[in-house]
Amino acid sequence: MSNSPLRILNSLLMAIGLLVSFEPSSVLAQESDTAAQAGQILKRYCFRCHSGDGDDSGYAFDVRQVASLAEQDVIRPGDAKESTLYRLLSSGKMPPRNQPQLPKPSADEAEIVRQWIDAGAPEIPKPKRRDFVGLQETLTSIQKHFSSLAPEDRSNVRYFTLTNLWNDSEIDDAHLRNTRAALSKVLNSLSWSPAIVLPQIVDSKGIVLAIDISRLGWTQEHWQSLLDAYPYGLDYGSHPNTELNRINGDINKLDRKNKLLHLRADWFISTAVKPLLYHKLLYELVLPDLINRPVDPTSPSNPKNMTDRDLEKFLKVNVSANQFADPPRVLRAGFVKSGISGQNRMIEMHRLGSGRIYWKSYDFLASNREAILAEFPLGPSNPANDFNQLAFKHDGGEIIFTLPNGLQGYLLATGAGARLDAGPIEIVGDSLRTSGNQTIVNGLSCIACHRTGMVEPPRDEIREFASVFGDAKRQIEKLYAPHDVMRDEIDKINKAFTQKLEESMAEFLRYDGGPKPDFAYMPEPVAEVSRRFLLEDMNIETVACELDESKPEDLLVLLKRTQELRGLGINVLSRENGAIKRDAWESKSGPTLMQETARVLGFTPVVSRN
Ligand code: HEC
Ligand code: HEC
Repeated sequence: MSNSPLRILNSLLMAIGLLVSFEPSSVLAQESDTAAQAGQILKRYCFRCHSGDGDDSGYAFDVRQVASLAEQDVIRPGDAKESTLYRLLSSGKMPPRNQPQLPKPSADEAEIVRQWIDAGAPEIPKPKRRDFVGLQETLTSIQKHFSSLAPEDRSNVRYFTLTNLWNDSEIDDAHLRNTRAALSKVLNSLSWSPAIVLPQIVDSKGIVLAIDISRLGWTQEHWQSLLDAYPYGLDYGSHPNTELNRINGDINKLDRKNKLLHLRADWFISTAVKPLLYHKLLYELVLPDLINRPVDPTSPSNPKNMTDRDLEKFLKVNVSANQFADPPRVLRAGFVKSGISGQNRMIEMHRLGSGRIYWKSYDFLASNREAILAEFPLGPSNPANDFNQLAFKHDGGEIIFTLPNGLQGYLLATGAGARLDAGPIEIVGDSLRTSGNQTIVNGLSCIACHRTGMVEPPRDEIREFASVFGDAKRQIEKLYAPHDVMRDEIDKINKAFTQKLEESMAEFLRYDGGPKPDFAYMPEPVAEVSRRFLLEDMNIETVACELDESKPEDLLVLLKRTQELRGLGINVLSRENGAIKRDAWESKSGPTLMQETARVLGFTPVVSRN
């Protein structure tokens, strides 16, 4: 295929950057503060394309390395006005203008960069190391909260922890805030409850959060599905730390059913909104038809053979009745070149009532004749369709709908309606690899791009330019909306969606000195957390944090001394800059590499996978 669709796609995918912890009030703070803030701004808006040799820009500078900025002459320390970097940033020319979805630095942020360069561009400080929090402290927070609950509430309360992130010196406070916000967004994106339900911070550092899963409409089976997939489950029953033993015993006395009451937030955020878990948690454990349908063993990725009709029935939206009513109860836009696939595309809005919506896209892969929308604008064919001779034939579709709590749910389907896990890679790819690779998967990838709700589509070309006449032309005018009507509709939907984003995340983004979030510009937190979790190589420090080891040095010594650890294949971590991949760490066939490593340190793996 030609590379232009991918180009366009790449640009769209730049929509999501690193969140910045920056307070305009501290603009005049000390130099190192300004440097830290400037560092975060450059990291947030520029790093994805300017990370040194071999990056997307073709330039050799790395915005994390001040020396490289000076060497490549993109900054003149002491003189912002003469610095290309500042000039491009402050004039809005970088990030590139042809990538409108990309978050841009605000005037305040540009000002911080100016001050930093004018002050001689001092070295950007590394984030400070926080006081180490051991597993014992985390478990104590859980135990305290859990034992304070009424016994009847205990069966529904579960915990998410950020301890490993807290302990990692490479994780800044903004990322911790992002993680709490993303946790709330993911929980609520997997909920059919009418209201947003906020997880509750139950410790003093904001790294243990509790949620009553019944308020999300979850059952014990929802939790069990998570446990079945969890690669980090550990038990402390035979751990040499007797205090850990005791607290663990106390918790177990209060709850005998669950092997694990807490999960890591970073894993949950990155995994629960991707297939298979996303489909199981949102659909298969909830829609009565799917609950009752037997499992099809020949269809492992869609074991209940779910289709878009299953969802439509559950949401009580009758797509063909809406399409073929007179006048039709849909709003359409069709265009030759979609912003995402570079192909012909038609999008269609239905209403679910109470301001909730159901959007469907009609996507065309090949250029078979009926895929030319301008010639066949009046599909899909249907006995109730008076214009079947002008009906397009689509190859797939994407669906976005409003959940009862105002957030969004997603579905990908074939032309025949069968649910899919991922978009066809030859048509669409995600250069930011939000899902862990380039595949666009249902759930996570949609959340990342549709960060502010509906994306304003290209201008409709069917209403004006379709090559049909008479009754067909009049039918088109009823179905395909003028661009301003479409835009107003999308504005309204997105305003309501933004309010719900705010309700589910603002409190966590402002927590602990965080700036007031601006959802129009902000990078998407779930995508941020996922990319960091899935893509960044794990060094000895990350691994130590995930094993409750306060000192990476100690783990290194242990690694050198312990035959058993070396045998597990994590030896590479003892090399300078040695790193392992998340995939390997979570590798599954029985206990994971993480669990095997933890076993050597005195933990017992909890493997409930079936
Ligand atoms: C989407 C990718 C992307 C992002 C994000 C991005 N840039 Fe660029 N940048 C490019 C590309 C591509 C070039 C080279 C082509 C060009 O000059 O347009 C470039 C070139 C540059 C140059 C060199 C220009 C010259 O003439 O020497 C500077 C300086 C620069 N960018 C600064 C920034 C800053 C500052 C940010 C963040 C505020 C940023 N860029 C964000 C893609 C990006
Ligand atoms: C790479 C970014 C990107 C990803 C990933 C993405 N979309 Fe979109 N989506 C768009 C753009 C851009 C549009 C606007 C119409 C167009 O240009 O095709 C859009 C439009 C839509 C529409 C029509 C309503 C609207 O917002 O205009 C639906 C429905 C939709 N997408 C569903 C999905 C689903 C479901 C997923 C996940 C499987 C998904 N999208 C993933 C970029 C994306």
